[in-house]
Amino acid sequence: MILWFRYSFSKYSRYKYLFKLILNQKPKIILEIGVYKGKRSIEMVDLAQCFNKQIIFYGFDLFEKITKKKIKDELSKNPLNKDQIFTKLKNLFPKSKINLIKGNTIKTLKNFKTKNKVDFIFIDGGHSIDTIKKDWQNVKKLMHKNSIVVFDDYYDDEHISKKFGSKKIIENLEKKYISKILPSKDIVVIGNKKILNSLVLVKIKD
Ligand SMILES: C[S@@+](CC[C@H](N)C(=O)[O-])C[C@H]1O[C@@H](n2cnc3c(N)ncnc32)[C@H](O)[C@@H]1O
Repeated sequence: MILWFRYSFSKYSRYKYLFKLILNQKPKIILEIGVYKGKRSIEMVDLAQCFNKQIIFYGFDLFEKITKKKIKDELSKNPLNKDQIFTKLKNLFPKSKINLIKGNTIKTLKNFKTKNKVDFIFIDGGHSIDTIKKDWQNVKKLMHKNSIVVFDDYYDDEHISKKFGSKKIIENLEKKYISKILPSKDIVVIGNKKILNSLVLVKIKD
């Protein structure tokens, strides 16, 4: 519970909603696109374990397959290696099932199959519109009627949103989904611009 509360004091205000949603939904199966150093993965699994002893976690990232070009094209960051993250997560959560999938989600997520649909999905991988659009296409098939999908990087800027971030995807969601931009005070600097960056909650309409 303290995990999301501390976001009230953190420089990232938007992530407290990620944890509020987990508190409400109590997911058993969590999928994160873009693991990076595992910070958010740890926080999400830790909180979800308060409600279910065993969490199934799927984490997708390029890990050591990242290139300088990808970092530039995807406005991305340099993640840790897959083995490093796996050891970290497995040591912290020995009872949970930790699955890390290495590679470009355009391929890995497309080929991904699970026996059970996923309760909670956090989309925070590549930041190009093309990648986020494909991630969304591939994530839809993993949803059940009560699944929650959270997109990061909704940039409140028309010009930047022509190339990067989730705004265009959210604006073009099919009618069967509802979306809600969550409150945020977080500012990201892209180029020389300071832009408001928010999370967006997406669900299937009742
Ligand atoms: C912003 S970071 C994720 C941060 C993490 N979710 C957190 O909150 O701590 C983005 C991550 O996405 C990964 N990434 C970028 N493009 C990708 C792609 N096409 N396929 C898989 N992973 C990708 C990067 O390697 C990077 O680790």
